[in-house]
Amino acid sequence: MDEALLPSPPDAAAPPPLPPTPACEIVALRKRFGATVAVDGLNLRVPPGMLYAFLGPNGAGKTTSLRMLAGLLKPDYGTARINGHDVHADPVRAKQGLAYIPDDPALYAKLTPIEFLEYTAALWSVPHEQARARAEELLTKLGLAPRAADRIESFSRGMKQKVALASALVHAPSLLMLDEPLTGLDAAAARLVKDMLVEFVAGGGTVLLTTHILEVAERLAQRIGIIAKGRLLAEGTLEELRVQAAMPGATLEDVFLRLVGSTEGMGRT
Ligand SMILES: Nc1ncnc2c1ncn2[C@@H]1O[C@H](COP(=O)(O)OP(=O)(O)OP(=O)(O)O)[C@@H](O)[C@H]1O
Ligand SMILES: [Mg+2]
Repeated sequence: MDEALLPSPPDAAAPPPLPPTPACEIVALRKRFGATVAVDGLNLRVPPGMLYAFLGPNGAGKTTSLRMLAGLLKPDYGTARINGHDVHADPVRAKQGLAYIPDDPALYAKLTPIEFLEYTAALWSVPHEQARARAEELLTKLGLAPRAADRIESFSRGMKQKVALASALVHAPSLLMLDEPLTGLDAAAARLVKDMLVEFVAGGGTVLLTTHILEVAERLAQRIGIIAKGRLLAEGTLEELRVQAAMPGATLEDVFLRLVGSTEGMGRT
């Protein structure tokens, strides 16, 4: 048989496909405040296109880690990257696709939400017409349209939280980092925000969030990282965490409490 007619064999020399660039990653990150080591050699890798929950007890180092990822705090040691770009060496490119909502978002209280969203969009060079349309769409979605002309200073805590979320989404980021985004939201608002996050991920975006509401992480997150005392305790899908905790079928709350409880008495330098 003519060899040329045979199907060509798979090319044994072809390299396996490269894993996708993580949406964000931290490598050997360390941060000390005086005598407290807030983050202690942390490694974390968030693959693109998923919701990743970053969990840990109070004071574990979550906010400090996110602030270093967002480039707001310089690590003592280690590297933070967004979409493959070093946050500290190449901040402009790293932050291009990033939206970060801290646990205490700073809003311009004298502005209306429309003005604030337009201002934020302008910082990201979104054309004015597009910014206006996007701002109106987001405010309507979040139920804030009737208050669009009021100053933010007159808003309740939950309303301010919604404005912060809208401002994060106004420039269509690829990575959304949220530090306890559901705090202070009523049940309907929390549902709305969760739905928006799921929609954001379905559209190809990546979400990295911290929360103490473990049911939310259990239901929404594709992967979960648990830290305590600045160190990574466990990482993976819920199923993988159950295996690590030797708790088949357990809830995330039970797994979390066992893993975190096992560090009681563990020193923090
Ligand atoms: N600016 C700062 N100055 C001094 N210590 C700080 C500072 N920021 C954080 N820390 C300390 O670092 C540790 C980690 O704090 P961090 O805010 O990162 O925790 P967290 O995991 O976000 O906790 P929570 O769940 O309560 O938000 C804590 O011991 C905290 O007191
Ligand atoms: Mg925090």
